[in-house]
Amino acid sequence: MSVLPGQPQGAPAHTEPAGGGAEVTVSRVVKSFGPIQALRGVSLQIARSEFVTITGPSGSGKSTLLNLIGSLDRPDSGSVQIGGVPVPEPRHAIEFRRRVVGFVFQDYLLLPYLSAQGNIEAPLIATGRSRRERRRRSAELLDEVGLADRAGHLPAELSGGQRQGVALARALANNPSVLLADEPTGALDSVSASRALDLLATLRVRHGMTVLVVSHDTAVADRADRVVRLVDGRVADQPGPDAR
Ligand SMILES: Nc1ncnc2c1ncn2[C@@H]1O[C@H](COP(=O)(O)OP(=O)(O)OP(=O)(O)O)[C@@H](O)[C@H]1O
Ligand SMILES: [Mg+2]
Repeated sequence: MSVLPGQPQGAPAHTEPAGGGAEVTVSRVVKSFGPIQALRGVSLQIARSEFVTITGPSGSGKSTLLNLIGSLDRPDSGSVQIGGVPVPEPRHAIEFRRRVVGFVFQDYLLLPYLSAQGNIEAPLIATGRSRRERRRRSAELLDEVGLADRAGHLPAELSGGQRQGVALARALANNPSVLLADEPTGALDSVSASRALDLLATLRVRHGMTVLVVSHDTAVADRADRVVRLVDGRVADQPGPDAR
């Protein structure tokens, strides 16, 4: 894996917040799906550039929480802020999802008919970069995730770990302040998972992003600054920095 010479030039300025970092504040968030109370009053503060892992049993509300932070859904009550700015309503969140947050899903959701490079360039088209700029940025990101020699491969021609790398590069394309990842190592063997985590940790340090990872994997929790455990739609315990 090569090292980028600092932040790429010509990257668009975030509309919010200033400074490239972010702080996530979740206040008394409640979310139900019909009779099911997925989140029952969750409050959480995540510092700028912090790496937080969210764990907890299946059905405890982890994905629901991540989706609310990324404005893929809206809370019934309570609020979510990033950098002191309320997360917009999902139907008004297109710009927010392009520029402020980056998502990595468990099954990666790569576009099957586009190459690795094409997948990474897709979010750059939406933010109005020129073709030349997109090429430069996707090449840089492919290099960063160690896949420079796989640019032309379709997702079906890549290994699971390589697909994960492309998904990560795509999430980073527009320099998000907050990276949200739902079980990013769930489909990987332990060696590939470890490599993906190294990459995540390196990128976090290099780009100063805030990283929120939902995971059952103890290897992920071990890398985090802090582990937040959800049980039955509530935060179970929040150990301090020395007491994990
Ligand atoms: N769109 C939805 N419609 C109805 N119920 C939902 C919906 N999304 C989630 N739920 C319910 O809300 C609860 C929390 O779901 P969530 O997906 O957040 O759990 P999770 O902690 O991510 O679980 P897992 O570890 O299995 O991924 C579950 O009981 C689930 O069935
Ligand atoms: Mg989930």
